[in-house]
Amino acid sequence: MHDLLPDWVAVEVAREADYLADLLPEEAAALSARAVASRRREFTAGRSCARRALARLDVHGQPLVPSENRAPVWPQGTTGSITHTAGYCAAAVARRSDLCAVGIDAERRTILPANVRAAICRPEELAWCARRPDEDWWPAVHFSAKEVVFKLWSPIVGTWLDFLDARLTIDVETSEFEAQILPGRLAKSPGAPTTFRGRFHATPDLVRSAGVVTT
Ligand SMILES: CC(C)(COP(=O)(O)OP(=O)(O)OC[C@H]1O[C@@H](n2cnc3c(N)ncnc32)[C@H](O)[C@@H]1OP(=O)(O)O)[C@@H](O)C(=O)NCCC(=O)NCCS
Repeated sequence: MHDLLPDWVAVEVAREADYLADLLPEEAAALSARAVASRRREFTAGRSCARRALARLDVHGQPLVPSENRAPVWPQGTTGSITHTAGYCAAAVARRSDLCAVGIDAERRTILPANVRAAICRPEELAWCARRPDEDWWPAVHFSAKEVVFKLWSPIVGTWLDFLDARLTIDVETSEFEAQILPGRLAKSPGAPTTFRGRFHATPDLVRSAGVVTT
């Protein structure tokens, strides 16, 4: 993820030990006793990466408890984002004096079924994908980038944002994306940002995306 974010965002990608790290008591209490092993591992790796990244900002030993909307409550003066998918987990954190929000996302690069594509991509986005020579995997990039948009929107606006509430423009040359929030959603969200920007990177099996909103 380092390559997709400004230098002053602290990013940590999980190593095997992060999946087996200790949780702080508040975090362990927040993780349901019924959580399956895979959920326990990803939750733990995210917290462990985030704690290491926060240490680089001189923030130590703070629990990262999920809030009601499932986003972690970041220590005072900081903000961050966590992502996990099979075989990959990362956390990114920054000082609130530098930015309002950071969002990161990683997804296995898969060919999404038609019904999932239609739930994520607007008709004009599907038409754009269809014009690409390698059209099959661009919906996965839309999916990942839109999850970044949600992770930027959610801490700033605090409300739901549907996949079809944003129209994505992808620059294939620069690997950048821009998301325009559509008027219907903006009318219900006074003062919300209208545009979010980020970058993405895709390998044959992983799509990563990230963005920031600066102060
Ligand atoms: C919340 C959401 C974006 C998470 O994405 P995901 O691909 O399922 O999972 P990821 O591994 O990338 O991210 C999960 C992490 O996101 C974080 N997260 C959860 N809810 C969040 C929120 N409301 N805001 C910011 N971060 C959130 C958590 O840290 C979570 O990990 P944890 O539970 O272990 O702490 C997704 O589940 C979701 O609800 N999406 C629908 C809304 C959306 O994306 N709209 C698109 C608008 S254009």
